[in-house]
Amino acid sequence: MLTTSFEQNLAGAIEIARSAPSSHNCQPWAVHYSPLSRTGYLAIDRHRALKGLPSLENEMLMSCGIFFQHIETLMRNAGTPLQWTWFDESHTTPTLPQKQDGLICFSPGEKQAANPDAYHDLAKQIHHRHTNRMPYETTKLSALQQFRLQEMFADSPVQLNIWQDQTSCKQVADLVYQYAALDFADKAAWQETYSFIRFDKNKPVEDGFYLHHLFGKIPAYVEWLFRVAFHPKLNLFTRFLRLPQFMAHEFSKLTGQGPQYLALSLPDPNPHNLFITGMKLARVWLLLEQWGWGIHPLSVLVQHDLPKATLANTLGMTHLPIFFARFGQVKIAADVSPRRHLDSILTID
Ligand SMILES: Cc1cc2nc3c(=O)[nH]c(=O)nc-3n(C[C@H](O)[C@H](O)[C@H](O)COP(=O)(O)O)c2cc1C
Repeated sequence: MLTTSFEQNLAGAIEIARSAPSSHNCQPWAVHYSPLSRTGYLAIDRHRALKGLPSLENEMLMSCGIFFQHIETLMRNAGTPLQWTWFDESHTTPTLPQKQDGLICFSPGEKQAANPDAYHDLAKQIHHRHTNRMPYETTKLSALQQFRLQEMFADSPVQLNIWQDQTSCKQVADLVYQYAALDFADKAAWQETYSFIRFDKNKPVEDGFYLHHLFGKIPAYVEWLFRVAFHPKLNLFTRFLRLPQFMAHEFSKLTGQGPQYLALSLPDPNPHNLFITGMKLARVWLLLEQWGWGIHPLSVLVQHDLPKATLANTLGMTHLPIFFARFGQVKIAADVSPRRHLDSILTID
């Protein structure tokens, strides 16, 4: 039962923020609020978090940061801001259920004037943002747009780099060709990825993604072929047929089209900074969305040490990237993917 305006607004904000992007659409977040103590927390739900590779922890922290950025801004626009601290620095750190790791503690801040227009605009942007893995228009970012993106990173530990030249496109395509097969090479990681691919469109689901999210519309027989050929139990057979190399080649052709790339990097990638990076990424993604642009993350280049270091070297980055994506003006609209229900995210006692 939601009794106060704070609780109602919190539930309303989470209802919108649950559309936040996350790796494999795993949505690894949990929120709890206790009206009695007037405190709450955001945690990583370990039942949901990816664990196929150690580096996926970075992506869990970033995903939760994106989700929290939406909630934080919506609550401010609703006139009921959150007062928040890191979980481990809070004086009243609550005990969490098993399999949850606290990230943020929060309580109601002082009420302020609501901004309903900003609230609705933001809700609309969050709702309309989708990962777009299709070819983009060749439009380049203007100097003003680059400035608008860069200014979000002033006074932050996160660095944003952007590339939009032909040489970088070729270099990224080569790196993707060289390393994309790593996705299939690690058995545990591929098993986990495969478990998030949904093949039955008639079965209700709340997470994961469909093949049309990756490849656009494809004939049913190709879906079936993919389902069988890339089944983790057939790993050796798939590798024998060099299917991962074929996929890497196709993927490299797409990613080499750019037309732009962005990287987020940190001199000190500790959990707090990774969470903050997620908060920044949420703002970047929505600003691009406002301009009619989409993002296609290319995590395979940052999840393993060798491609990550090679990418940083090749593109001349000062620090190792923790997020890398191609992006551009949307040409073909992307589809909405499933989401968890509010009741499974927020608990109130
Ligand atoms: C940190 C992070 C890493 C991601 N990495 C990839 C990736 O490597 N390839 C990809 O196609 N999508 C990637 N995604 C996008 C997710 O798959 C996507 O957010 C999720 O499936 C939900 O879909 P939506 O963004 O369209 O709502 C990533 C998202 C996040 C937040």
